[in-house]
Amino acid sequence: MNFSDTLLAKLASACDVVAFTGAGISAESGVPTFRGNDGIWTKFKPEELANLNAFMRNPELVWEWYSARKKVIAEVQPNAGHYALAEMERIFSSFAVITQNIDNLHRRAGSKNVFELHGNIERNYCMRCGRQFTDEQVLNGTAVPTCPCGGVIRPDVVWFGELLPEDEWRGAEKACQRADVLLSIGTSGVVYPAAGLPLEAKRSGAFIVEINPEPTPLTEYADEFLQGKAGEILPRILDHLKTKSQRNSHSQV
Ligand code: OAD
Repeated sequence: MNFSDTLLAKLASACDVVAFTGAGISAESGVPTFRGNDGIWTKFKPEELANLNAFMRNPELVWEWYSARKKVIAEVQPNAGHYALAEMERIFSSFAVITQNIDNLHRRAGSKNVFELHGNIERNYCMRCGRQFTDEQVLNGTAVPTCPCGGVIRPDVVWFGELLPEDEWRGAEKACQRADVLLSIGTSGVVYPAAGLPLEAKRSGAFIVEINPEPTPLTEYADEFLQGKAGEILPRILDHLKTKSQRNSHSQV
């Protein structure tokens, strides 16, 4: 795939860059997406697993499912797409990852400035006192872990109908409003409010690049649609950026 001169020029002059990611960036690591043919939500119903009412009604079932997901995610590794984004953070003067993913793979790949809109599956907290627990503390064979205070512990993920964590959302919105370029990567762009962020960036003047094997509702608003896999396209973008920064450092000698 060749990148357009416009895209390369936008990246070359960009100071503030945002990567907005969804389940697709982790697909090549072996984490299933939600809505594809093999997607999680084709086999399980969100209303039975990913909402507070479901948890209150049947915490055993919800914990069983999250324990299984925690195990899958603990065993996978970040892929070339995650690593390319982590390196981009070192190239641009300001670079943020805004992710809808709960799998922690961006941080494991080395990204530091990460806004997690939907929580993080490696964390857990007590619903009564708010105390945080690691997986080691909660995955000890008890079906529904409880806190010493007597409260029930839940995974630190955002369920349907819940508000997004305020600090993460505010930071993400600010990053989008400042962005010169926003890369929307591996998301179907249908779950709001997160899905509104690329449009907010566009309204604030950002150049929008979408990376996805399939078109999405965002595609018609994107300035460039790069059709393909994140793990293949992002390393190629990174190569261009590195060649450019090498050229710049030579010309300064
Ligand atoms: P989806 O499963 O809805 O969409 C995944 C997207 O990734 C699709 O558009 C795929 O075409 C694309 N894709 C698949 N493989 C890819 C690859 N190798 N490279 C790039 N793209 C690829 O996942 P999300 O958009 O992340 O929310 O879903 C948003 C939210 O819905 C999730 O955060 C979750 C879910 O319900 C909560 O749990 C609150």
